[in-house]
Amino acid sequence: MLTYSNKSFADYTEEGNPTLRLSSVEIILLGRWEGLSNALLTLHKNQFFMVKYNDKRFERESYILLEGVVEIEVNGCRRVMEIGEVLDASSFKQTVSFYGETEAVFLLKIDAEAYEEHFLEMQMLQKEAEEIELLDGYTYHHCDRIKNYTIEVWKHLDMPGDTQSLILLRWGSYFHDIGKRAIPLEILNKPGKLTDEEWEIMKSHTTEGARMVREHAVKWLKDVAFIVEQHHERHDGTGYPYGLKGDEIALEASIVSVVDAFDAMTTDRVYKKALSIEDAVEELKAGKGTQFNPKVVDAFIEILKKKQFKWK
Ligand SMILES: [Fe+2]
Repeated sequence: MLTYSNKSFADYTEEGNPTLRLSSVEIILLGRWEGLSNALLTLHKNQFFMVKYNDKRFERESYILLEGVVEIEVNGCRRVMEIGEVLDASSFKQTVSFYGETEAVFLLKIDAEAYEEHFLEMQMLQKEAEEIELLDGYTYHHCDRIKNYTIEVWKHLDMPGDTQSLILLRWGSYFHDIGKRAIPLEILNKPGKLTDEEWEIMKSHTTEGARMVREHAVKWLKDVAFIVEQHHERHDGTGYPYGLKGDEIALEASIVSVVDAFDAMTTDRVYKKALSIEDAVEELKAGKGTQFNPKVVDAFIEILKKKQFKWK
C-alpha cells in the first residue's frame, strides 16, 4: 500500500489508485518500488505535456512508451518515439515535449518521495481550480485551455522555458480568477448591468485573489500573485486594479488577459451566446494596443492560424 503523510493513497480515489485527470493527461499511481513511484501516464490524442530538465525535485525521472504514437521535441527537433523506448528525462539539458499523435500510454518511473508529495499537491490544486471555474459558469477545461495557450504564447515569444517560469504560467493562469470566491454570488451571476458599487466589488477579485494565493496552504503559490493581481490591467493604462500601462504589466498577465478574453468570447455563457472564432479574432485585433498587448495578440493569432483556427 502506498502511503504519504500516514494517509493511504486509496483515500484519494474511488478506484483505489490515486488518479490525476487533466484535459491533456491522466496519471494513475501504481505503487512504489525501490524508491521510485511507478505511474501509468495516458497522453490524450492531439495533446502534449512537457518535462522540464532543470526540475531539481526529481533526480530520477524516466518515461517508457508502452503504446500509441508519440512525437518528442527537444531543442526544436521533433522525432517519433519508439514503442518500448526509455526516455531518461533527468539526462536532458533541455525541456522535452511529448505530443500524442494518437492516445498513448507511458510507464513513468520517478523519485517517489518528491513525486508523491507533488502528486497530492497537484490533485488538491486541480480540484480547487475546477471549483473556481465552476463559480463563473465554466467547466475545468476552461482553465486547462487557458494554461495551454498561455504557455504556447510564452514559448512563441521566445521567453525562457525554465521550470520556474512554466510553473508560474500554469498556476497563474489556473488561478487568475480565484478572487471570485470573495465576490457575492448575486453580483457574480447578476444577468444585468452591475451598479457602480457592485462593479467596485467585482473588480476587487484581482486584489482579493492575490491575497488568497499569498496566504494559500501551498506556499509556493504566492509567487503567482502578480499574475492574479494584474490580469485585468489594460495596455493603455485604463484597466484595474492599479492602472498599470504597457511594459509595467507583467507579460505573463498580459498573455492570460488575451487568452482569457478569447475563451470567454468563444464560450456560451448564461447571459450571452458565443462569438465565432473569426469574430473573436476581430475583437482581439480591435483591442490591440488599447486593451491588449499588441505583440501578445499577434503571437496568439499566429498560433491560432497554425492550428487552422481550431479552438477547444
Ligand atoms: Fe478576472
